[in-house]
Amino acid sequence: MGIKKRDFGQSVDGKPVHLYTLTNAGGMEVTITNYGATVVSLVVPDRDGKPADVVLGYDRLEDYIAGKQYFGCIAGRYANRIAEGKITLKGTEYRLTINDGDNHLHGGRRGFDKMVWQGQEFEDNVGIGLKFAYLSPDGEEGYPGNLACTVIYTIGAANELKIDYHATTDKASIVNLTNHAYFNLAGAGSGQILNHELMICADRFTPIDSCLIPTGEMRSVESTPFDFTRPTTIGARIDHDDEQLVFGKGYDHNWILNRDIAGPCLAARAYERISGRRLEVFTTQPGIQFYSGNFLDKEIGAKDGLTYYHRGGFCLETQHFPDSPNHPNFPSTVLDPGSKYEHTTIYKFTAG
Ligand code: GLA
Repeated sequence: MGIKKRDFGQSVDGKPVHLYTLTNAGGMEVTITNYGATVVSLVVPDRDGKPADVVLGYDRLEDYIAGKQYFGCIAGRYANRIAEGKITLKGTEYRLTINDGDNHLHGGRRGFDKMVWQGQEFEDNVGIGLKFAYLSPDGEEGYPGNLACTVIYTIGAANELKIDYHATTDKASIVNLTNHAYFNLAGAGSGQILNHELMICADRFTPIDSCLIPTGEMRSVESTPFDFTRPTTIGARIDHDDEQLVFGKGYDHNWILNRDIAGPCLAARAYERISGRRLEVFTTQPGIQFYSGNFLDKEIGAKDGLTYYHRGGFCLETQHFPDSPNHPNFPSTVLDPGSKYEHTTIYKFTAG
């Protein structure tokens, strides 16, 4: 078990950026940068013990600075979309930056993915990890309140990456943090993810309009291409003539998790038959955005000289539902002064 730190360059405003590599005895090696608190690579063994990097990313900081795919980053202050960037809190309307058509996406023009976080290595009784802190100032991208955030990545003896999220504010605000890793369990850059089998522990999802904003409905997945209650390959129904798939250009939707316990519960499982690699996602969050990499299109500058193509990775973003501030029937994303935002997500890797 150990952590190695090296330089990764400087941000545009001259802040030093580092790469931290965490290793355990199970053959897991995770590299994370304080730029966007981003997971840059995640190496895990296949069923024969052969290692591969299973997350998409870049080799160079410049590509993260210019990148628009949110590879591996922490998305915030509000991950996912807010219709027309409008929110109302305690009778006051706030206008957030519009950066996705007419809407607000992943925190705005310069979201948490483009910030230099303060990194700190640690060791505790679970294992080793990195604690990243970022103070988002009042008014940033239109959001009210100074929001103090910490994101803690921990690995232990098992091949699990645990992410703990914390935030507090000095004025009523909204918060929704997630990790935006793109996975390809056959290895990043090895091809499309359509043959991965996916299971999502959700009987319902939140349908969207043509701009990917939830309509407010919570719809049963039964007899639709959104039913992943039993393991089904991602590609099996992705091109079906279904209005929701047309709107999303594939899967780009929030599933409502069937939660039965307060702590982290199983949200999704993905399996790649050839390598035997399996990913299980556990979370305390109420939802998960399954995004099938529909906007990936010849992504140049990818790690190891590779190019990523359409649907070359998929995301399982544990989160609150998109556009929650404008849907009173969705779980609230409001954070008041004196309250704590706390969530945990675990990405667990096995092979067999
Ligand atoms: C999210 C969104 C997608 C897309 C990606 C980034 O997951 O839901 O629509 O914007 O981020 O490309």
